[in-house]
Amino acid sequence: MTLAPDSAALRQPNDLESFWLPFTPNRAFKRAPRLLVRAKDMHYYTADGRAVLDGTAGLWCSNAGHSRDPIVAAIARQAEALDYAPAFQFAHPQAFELASRVAALAPADLDRVFFCNSGSEAVDTALKIALAYHHVRGEGARTRLIGRERGYHGVGFGGISVGGIVNNRKFFGALLAGVDHLPATYNREHQAFSKGEPQWGAHLADDLERIVALHDAATIAAVIVEPMAGSTGVLPPPQGYLERLRAICDRHGILLIFDEVITGFGRLGHAFAAERYGVTPDLIAFAKGVTSGSVPMGGVIARGGIYDAFMRGPEQAIELFHGYTYSAHPLACAAGLAALDLYRDEGLFERARGLEPLFADAAMALKELPGVLDIRTVGLTAGIDLAPRAGAPGARAAEAMNRAFHDEGLMIRVTGDTIALCPPLIVREAQIGEMFVKVARVIRATA
Ligand SMILES: Cc1ncc(COP(=O)(O)O)c(C=O)c1O
Repeated sequence: MTLAPDSAALRQPNDLESFWLPFTPNRAFKRAPRLLVRAKDMHYYTADGRAVLDGTAGLWCSNAGHSRDPIVAAIARQAEALDYAPAFQFAHPQAFELASRVAALAPADLDRVFFCNSGSEAVDTALKIALAYHHVRGEGARTRLIGRERGYHGVGFGGISVGGIVNNRKFFGALLAGVDHLPATYNREHQAFSKGEPQWGAHLADDLERIVALHDAATIAAVIVEPMAGSTGVLPPPQGYLERLRAICDRHGILLIFDEVITGFGRLGHAFAAERYGVTPDLIAFAKGVTSGSVPMGGVIARGGIYDAFMRGPEQAIELFHGYTYSAHPLACAAGLAALDLYRDEGLFERARGLEPLFADAAMALKELPGVLDIRTVGLTAGIDLAPRAGAPGARAAEAMNRAFHDEGLMIRVTGDTIALCPPLIVREAQIGEMFVKVARVIRATA
């Protein structure tokens, strides 16, 4: 669909004051806004019609590309047929259909799906399911949750408590009690410029044994990690690390939660990172790619045995006191079904897997540019660490993002002084080349 030039969607906003932007320096943004008015496939468009190549699948979510016709049509049809239906005590058919399609993509017996609306809600839902699971089994003393330094699990109180990014935690009080953290898996000295999973670092999983010895396994409910830590700057797991975490959790009856909000739906060349790594968690938190970012949706996939543990007691009694007004929202379900069809019909997960070597080579070719400290790649994802400016951490990458957008017509994501790239899975080889040529120019320009 092409919008007429006078379409309301293409207008400049009436004023920039009222909207408080999330995770954004508001005053700097409002002085030089980066406004997007339209998107199609691999590109965003600005109000003056400039195309911007999407190097970040929006915010790690638009895996099938933007405003894809089958998804747009499915949302429109659903809005007309059934705009909303509650999922408390009622339901609609697409919720069941999407749950079974998501379950079919998940490994092993991960076959029960709980829906919510975002990654943050997915994480909090997973943590609550883990706690309640132990409770209904008579192990109510298992209340501790273990996260990891540098982990990002969204912004709910559960997520920031198990998360390990200081700025996301320090302003918000005491957080959840009874949380401990594994060490981060990154070590530049041992891992710099690794393609895929670094060889060094599996032993860091053994810190879980130290935590178990400290608190006793009988007090620990779950461990949550991102299989590949995306938001902190693309940290693939060391070879063997996830296997080791799984083994320790098994030894002590601790649930293992994979936060696959970024890694789910093809980012690492498989439906889920659990499949890529051959490690089966007990719960998977997902969001983003499930609808290719088109309608907010998240969820948790649970192993059958976890669901079964709740299905006891009187049949008329609610088993889990948790849910959201918009759980399994009809528009999100319709968008999800259409997105999963696209992933399947266009073979997009396999496509990401096939493009991984080329993507990794293109990223690593930036190694010798001025002030590049490390480059990491995995799936269709790359993290590039830039040397920060003295006394101004983050300033160089922020300038790189601005230059990429205004001068190069490229959207990149930055966190601290790290550039992250994670294009939609429909990206063509030539566009990968274009992306890294542009990134190379902004790295040189900001050196
Ligand atoms: C691993 C992970 N978990 C949770 C979230 C939070 O998702 P949302 O922003 O949809 O709440 C994110 C967002 O980037 C994420 O990367």
